[in-house]
Amino acid sequence: MTANGEPIELTVNGRRHALQVPADAPLLAVLRNDLGLNGPKYGCGLGQCGACTVLVDGRAARACVMPVSGVAGRSVTTLEGLGSREAPHPVQRAFIEAQAAQCGYCLNGMIMSTVALLARNPAPTEAQVRDALSHNLCRCGTHLEILAAVGLAAKLLADAQEPLR
Ligand code: FES
Repeated sequence: MTANGEPIELTVNGRRHALQVPADAPLLAVLRNDLGLNGPKYGCGLGQCGACTVLVDGRAARACVMPVSGVAGRSVTTLEGLGSREAPHPVQRAFIEAQAAQCGYCLNGMIMSTVALLARNPAPTEAQVRDALSHNLCRCGTHLEILAAVGLAAKLLADAQEPLR
């Protein structure tokens, strides 16, 4: 809650919430513990591994080091907000089709960072992809499949924008 005891208001995956939580609670803890959104993962807790990545107003952000008060009045998107099992987001589809996971713990961060990258740069070079994901750690070494998934995601998104003939 804010200093004057007011709840903290934020929008998560299109839904507005007024939360009675400490202003300095990490956004990741609020998402997982108070809102039941377990897409974002707890990895390092230090802003270094990327497992907890969410979108804040469309930009990738580390939820483990962001106080919930920092997103008051802003729009947060988690993995759950992208798509569903029945209708996955094109980036989720691409990661599934490219089988870009081994243990899967990094996938939330890889996918959310890819969504943010492709929103600002729909056709990144491989170097730009590597740079954008360089702070998302994968300890299984699935990097080649992840690069393939990002390329496929860019293609799927571009195809989705093509006008029907
Ligand atoms: Fe947030 Fe590692 S858990 S960056």
